[in-house]
Amino acid sequence: MKSLTTSFRVLALCFLATVAANCTTPPTLPGPGGFGAREVSPTPPRPPGQTDVIELRCPPIETVRVAFIGLGMRGSEAVNRYSYIEGVKIVALCDVVPANVEKAQNVLKERGLPKADGYTGPDDWKTICQRNDVDLVYVCTHWDLHTPIAVYAMEHGKHAAVEVPAALTLQQCWQLVETSERTRKHCMQLENCNYDFFEMATLNMAQKGLFGQIVHGEGAYIHDLRGMNFDEKGSYWQMWRLRHNQARNGNLYPTHGLGPICHIMNIHRGDRMEYLVSISSNQFGMTEYAREKFGETSDYAKRTYQCGDMNTTVVKTQGGKTIMVQHDVANPRPYSRIHMVSGTKGFAQKWPLQGIALEPSAHEFMPKDKMDALLAQYEHPIVKEVGEKAKKVGGHGGMDFIMDYRLVYCLRNGLPLDEDVYDAAEWSSLIELSEKSVENQGMPVKVPDFTRGSWQKVKTVTYFHK
Ligand SMILES: NC(=O)c1ccc[n+]([C@@H]2O[C@H](COP(=O)([O-])OP(=O)(O)OC[C@H]3O[C@@H](n4cnc5c(N)ncnc54)[C@H](O)[C@@H]3O)[C@@H](O)[C@H]2O)c1
Repeated sequence: MKSLTTSFRVLALCFLATVAANCTTPPTLPGPGGFGAREVSPTPPRPPGQTDVIELRCPPIETVRVAFIGLGMRGSEAVNRYSYIEGVKIVALCDVVPANVEKAQNVLKERGLPKADGYTGPDDWKTICQRNDVDLVYVCTHWDLHTPIAVYAMEHGKHAAVEVPAALTLQQCWQLVETSERTRKHCMQLENCNYDFFEMATLNMAQKGLFGQIVHGEGAYIHDLRGMNFDEKGSYWQMWRLRHNQARNGNLYPTHGLGPICHIMNIHRGDRMEYLVSISSNQFGMTEYAREKFGETSDYAKRTYQCGDMNTTVVKTQGGKTIMVQHDVANPRPYSRIHMVSGTKGFAQKWPLQGIALEPSAHEFMPKDKMDALLAQYEHPIVKEVGEKAKKVGGHGGMDFIMDYRLVYCLRNGLPLDEDVYDAAEWSSLIELSEKSVENQGMPVKVPDFTRGSWQKVKTVTYFHK
């Protein structure tokens, strides 16, 4: 009897192996089949005594002492912007390329600010996090170090500001959430696109009900990065971004498109992303580019780039709304983050053509002069406060400065941050979730509830002011 059962098992295994071998894209998730959304990884229970950090308030910090880790293209700009913010002291500058630290020191010098302590060792970020004269660790390295540094910073009593994406895997998303909840430290993902002028105006309009009930939103990161990804002379440090395109297939950079839409939809403030489906086109653009730039027989042309050129992910929220978010960094297309908002009373879109349409004449976009007047009327109060200065300091037209200004303002006044650790986890989680869905022919996958039930505690996104 025992051997009969064993033979049956062997036969069953052989059958399954044959089926798997004949499938072009074998499913990678275990468990029974079915049509419902699947859980990629279970939600860990919140440890006893730990509470959520929805609208977390921390003691005000009069002068925010900042350490910058990673001073490449993005980090060096951040140092410059921070040199214009009142109530900030830049205490440490860290990059493994000594010239980058020097360059940042020169920025301070030109701005008449004292020299900061310089660090160039690969693990010096740990030493910096251990210092007792740092309040905020600002992470601008390549993606792989984002979560490790942010977690280490919070564990050592610092607030963490992390470039996008804050995390690369669901495990890292949970690590950020657990650490922020346990340490009661802020962890803000530096999603600057939430602070762009049109985006802020549409947030204000949505909150004032101009679009009616929000039904659908679209966002994207469509940005031809082929030149930079294949730049051997060093746009990106050691070509880190190319490696991610070689290794993963999904939406590798979802936060720019998602961020502003999620705030308009009050995600984890009354609604939450429930599940998604995701599909990628094949990869064409990177190989073609590599062939043309380096030759048919070059190493780059022969490499495998897993990332399909165009990834389209569609999210359904618990409240019944939908969000589409796209990613394409491999084709010659005009830059676009789409930023489209559609509701029962109106519609707005930023790319490829900016326009707003409202009832009762929403069949067409309103004339430009009318739209400009409306945008002026609904200019966000934060833009009113700091928009002109932001345009002068710069950073993607000013939005980067508004983001920095707001982070420092909230820290100095002990206010909840505009973007919290759940935003960081939710928006970054689309990387692995889309990947899992793509691997499984667009299978619906559940978006974890990183708030573990606290998403209904508040009903709207608030950018606090004293
Ligand atoms: N929000 C935005 O609009 C925006 C725009 C550009 C880049 N970014 C993000 O900013 C980050 C940096 O991008 P970038 O374009 O500046 O890339 P980059 O390659 O120019 O910069 C990365 C820097 O990290 C440094 N580094 C590497 N290992 C280090 C270590 N152990 N310790 C300290 N420094 C280390 C490198 O020397 C390099 O200077 C990325 O996460 C990217 O996604 C965001």
